[in-house]
Amino acid sequence: MEIRRALPSDMDFVTELERQSFSVPWSRDGFVFELESPYADFLIAEEDGEPAGFAVAHLAGDESELFNICVAERFRRRGAGERLVSECLRLAKSRGASRMLLEVRASNKPARALYMKAGFQVLGIRRDYYELPKEDAVIMERELEEK
Ligand SMILES: CC(C)(COP(=O)(O)OP(=O)(O)OC[C@H]1O[C@@H](n2cnc3c(N)ncnc32)[C@H](O)[C@@H]1OP(=O)(O)O)[C@@H](O)C(=O)NCCC(=O)NCCS
Repeated sequence: MEIRRALPSDMDFVTELERQSFSVPWSRDGFVFELESPYADFLIAEEDGEPAGFAVAHLAGDESELFNICVAERFRRRGAGERLVSECLRLAKSRGASRMLLEVRASNKPARALYMKAGFQVLGIRRDYYELPKEDAVIMERELEEK
């Protein structure tokens, strides 16, 4: 599994995987905005030249937010998610971020387990944050500074 930066030619893959995976998917324009943003790290996981997943993290001040991460179903449980998160963390740190934040659906056990394994802790709950279905968001945080 290789991790590389996303390219304009990845936007078909990213938009389609997003549409298959989320009830309220990001639009292609949203992804293109992040691709072109100097504050974003937009990464692709690929296996034998085939895209398997993506992640987008965005810097705001000294905080990075993990906006989006998704791995295609047939590539799951093979470490792609973990590699994408750890590369986002490394890049956020190299940009000077002191912590990374994210939101996840309360019922999303695979993602919550991935984030716990990557060292994130629960910071709080945002009630009824998501639609379709309405659901709480769990806010998670990981410090990036050396202790
Ligand atoms: C969450 C997601 C990105 C994980 O990707 P992945 O490539 O399968 O994850 P990895 O193989 O790197 O797994 C890393 C760890 O996460 C946890 N994990 C991943 N999938 C899990 C599952 N289905 N059940 C329980 N734990 C899981 C495990 O701790 C795993 O480590 P292990 O395999 O050594 O036990 C993937 O399930 C996905 O794309 N889901 C749909 C989109 C989504 O929900 N994105 C998150 C939005 S906030």
